[in-house]
Parts: sequence; C-alpha cells; structure tokens
Amino acid sequence: MEVVPLDSVEEVAALGADVIEAAVRARAGAAVLGLATGSTPLPAYRELIRRHAAGSGPSYAGVRCFTLDEYVGLSPGHPESYRATIARELTDPLGIPADRVHGPDPSPTGLATAGERYEEALVAAGGVDVQVLGIGSDGHLAFNEPGSSLASLTRIKTLTEETRRDNARFFGSVDEVPRHVLTQGLGTILRARHLLLLATGAGKAAALAAAVEGPLTASCPASVLQLHPHVTVLCDPAAADGL
Ligand code: GLP
Repeated sequence: MEVVPLDSVEEVAALGADVIEAAVRARAGAAVLGLATGSTPLPAYRELIRRHAAGSGPSYAGVRCFTLDEYVGLSPGHPESYRATIARELTDPLGIPADRVHGPDPSPTGLATAGERYEEALVAAGGVDVQVLGIGSDGHLAFNEPGSSLASLTRIKTLTEETRRDNARFFGSVDEVPRHVLTQGLGTILRARHLLLLATGAGKAAALAAAVEGPLTASCPASVLQLHPHVTVLCDPAAADGL
C-alpha cells in the first residue's frame, strides 16, 4: 500500500485527478472507472471537470463508470440518489453519457437480484481499472459497515445510525436518510485493479489509522485494503494525524 500524506485538500484533489486521468489515458479512453460518492472525492472530481473544460484532460468518449453503492427507497430521480449525484458532480460535466454510467438498481421489483446483476455487469465490462474510495468515520468502505464480510459481493445492507447521522447533512434530517442500501461488497472492491482511497479532515483520522495500520478485521471494513496489491492512499494532514 502506498500512503501519500499531502499538505492540503487541494493537493489530494490534484493528485487524485492525476491518478484517474492516468487510468483513462492508459486504456486509450476505454477505461472503466469506479466512482465513490460522498463529499471527499468532490474536489478531485471538480479538478477533473476543470481540466476537461480547459481542454487539458483526456478524452472520456469511451469511458464507462460504475458507482459503488446506492440508497434503497428514494423516489426515482431523487437528487441525493447516488445515480443523480454522480451525474451532477462528475459524469454529465465530463460528457459521459448516462448509458455508460452504471449503478446498482434499487427499483423495488428487481431488488432481490440487483446484487447479482450488478456483479455480472462489472464482469462483463472487464472489471474496474481504478476504483475511487472514501472512508466512513466508522471505517466503512462504500456502504460496507463494520461486521461486513471481507469477501462480500454486491448486496443489500442496513445502515448504522452513525452513518445515517453522518449522511443526514445531504438530506433535510436524519429521518429522511434511507435505512437500506445496495453496495458493492468488500470482495467486489478488491477485484478492481487499482484502489484510490482519498481521506481528508480530522473526522477520518482514527478510521484511516485503523484501516492502514490496524489489524485486518471486519470491525474496520477498510482494513481489507491491506489485502490488495495496488492501493494508493492520498490524505491531508488532518486525516493523516493518527498515522
Ligand atoms: C458514504 C458513502 C461512501 C463514502 C463515505 C464517506 O456513506 N457510501 O462511499 O466514502 O460515506 O463519505 P464522505 O466522503 O462524505 O465523508
């Protein structure tokens, strides 16, 4: 694992954008990107958009994207669904068409098979070249909460109250945060060829230290990164404080 402590959120964003662009260029524009939502990757996404608008980014014409997770129970088109969020914050501004952006399908009729279908879509796409990740304050990856199987695949999970409280800032109140989600499993995430974990802010210091330096344990799902042969961790001074 390559842990890169940086001087600022801006540096995390710039280097994160460099890693993503390098993956796109390496596949001559046909890369498969794994995209995280949450607030941490937003500065890196904005940097990608800025470079694209300035004409200095790579072509995204053939790129396909897979999101990590999705809420279950939001109305279709809800602005806080991860499908809507990733379109707004990244793929629309980069000109990546909606049919090239895939997410787990939370529609009620297909819920029972949604995980299996998503795994099949990932395999059919040839797997993820670079997977962007954030980390939850409780050490979760995607929506794999503490206790998740380290070998898990895409499935329905129940959110902890801590995560619902953390994510309440995107909704009107904690009561509006869904209780259930579809999420790639930890085993799914490990199949990506390169994992790029971004961590910024003091709220991530304990979780990042546990993930990087603690024991491999389902109590800290992000510790599963220790099993992967190609992980890059970019963090700002506040997040690196526990290392
Ligand atoms: C959310 C998402 C994760 C994200 C994490 C941290 O619940 N499901 O993919 O990495 O929590 O979010 P943030 O970056 O906003 O702190």
